[in-house]
Amino acid sequence: MNGNLIIKNAAQLVTCSGFRARRGSAMSDLNIIENGVVIIEDGLIKSVGTTAEILGSETLADVEVLDATGKAVLPGFVDSHTHLVFGGYRAEEFSWRLRGDSYMDIMQRGGGILSSVKATRAASREELMAAGMRRLDSMLSFGVTTVEAKSGYGLDRETEIKQLEVTGELNRRHAIDVVPTFLGAHAVLPDYRGREDEYIDMLIEAVLPEVAERQLAEFCDIFCEKAVFSVTQSKRLLRQAQTLGLKSKIHADEMVTLGGTELAAELGAISADHLLHASDDGIKAIAAAGVVATLLPGTAFSLKEPYARARFMIENDCAVALATDFNPGSCFSESIPLVMALAALYMGLSPEEAVTAVTLNGAAALDRADRIGSIDVGKIGDLVLLEYPSYAFIPYHIGVSTVEQVIKRGRIVFNRC
Ligand code: NIG
Ligand code: FE
Repeated sequence: MNGNLIIKNAAQLVTCSGFRARRGSAMSDLNIIENGVVIIEDGLIKSVGTTAEILGSETLADVEVLDATGKAVLPGFVDSHTHLVFGGYRAEEFSWRLRGDSYMDIMQRGGGILSSVKATRAASREELMAAGMRRLDSMLSFGVTTVEAKSGYGLDRETEIKQLEVTGELNRRHAIDVVPTFLGAHAVLPDYRGREDEYIDMLIEAVLPEVAERQLAEFCDIFCEKAVFSVTQSKRLLRQAQTLGLKSKIHADEMVTLGGTELAAELGAISADHLLHASDDGIKAIAAAGVVATLLPGTAFSLKEPYARARFMIENDCAVALATDFNPGSCFSESIPLVMALAALYMGLSPEEAVTAVTLNGAAALDRADRIGSIDVGKIGDLVLLEYPSYAFIPYHIGVSTVEQVIKRGRIVFNRC
């Protein structure tokens, strides 16, 4: 359902204007209009400008008007990397990590992702739906209007498909747009240890064709990592997915430097994600290939790992996006403002760069920069109104949502009372 709406007198209209990713130094430019107005008609942005110039010239029908005096207005946030749909939780694993066990050690001994696989296989669709709706409600309260959601807690045909079907149903039922990604190659089950190639064969033969045929996912992703899937295996799966019409994403160089970043460039992936240990050459290669570098500082924080080298990436003309990586293990948080604060405090991003990274560049990481991620005429009317007059309050109010209202396709879908 699309809406008509006028938002006027915005202290700052933070347009983040553009129809493709902003790279390098261009990430600092937010194209702010002071005392701004946006007019949304039938869910799409029709006019953008100063309140004086636009409201003076437009003839206005009987349309709802929001007065944003003293408030900053931004594009709805795009959380471009999450593992939204899963059964069970892993609170005990958090305690083990506090004791000193590493994330990869826990996974090697059958915990970690594999314990979420057990719980997700056991969960009913209704349970997954109910949990998914609650999580999306929380994301909406942080200003998220589009979220990516990966499968990867099934690791068999039946459960991977179940996760993707639930994701599709969440997209239909919730105000947030949910973009599905097939991550069947998320971990290696004990049965397949040493036979990872056979697992990739199984995905290619028994799961991918159905995912593509039924359009259950738009992207294919893989955990390209030492002791998980190699660069060669990743290339084989992602190439096959591309021939079936699925665009590529890669969990690349998260724990060690393996070459997933270079592979993302070679494959023309839409994004390369994590990149904590990406090499200089890999970073230069994704910049040249126009692959979005999706950084997930909540995960580095939660795992006590070093942060990705965002400054080096931006200096080398990368387009950087920020996302939560919301999942039950390595980062159980949907807080966009926390991610932005961590990026500012520990990765050297300016507040302006952090805003670009969760708006236009988040949209580019989902291949949607032509439709969402900025306040431009013709784009979808997805907006957030802050309780403060400046975007600078988002990372400054660490981890806490400053979002007062969320607009989706011209309709108010969240109101903080
Ligand atoms: O992006 N690295 C692999 N996958 C997720 C974690 C998933 C989990 O621990 O359940 C990540 O960090
Ligand atoms: Fe992830």
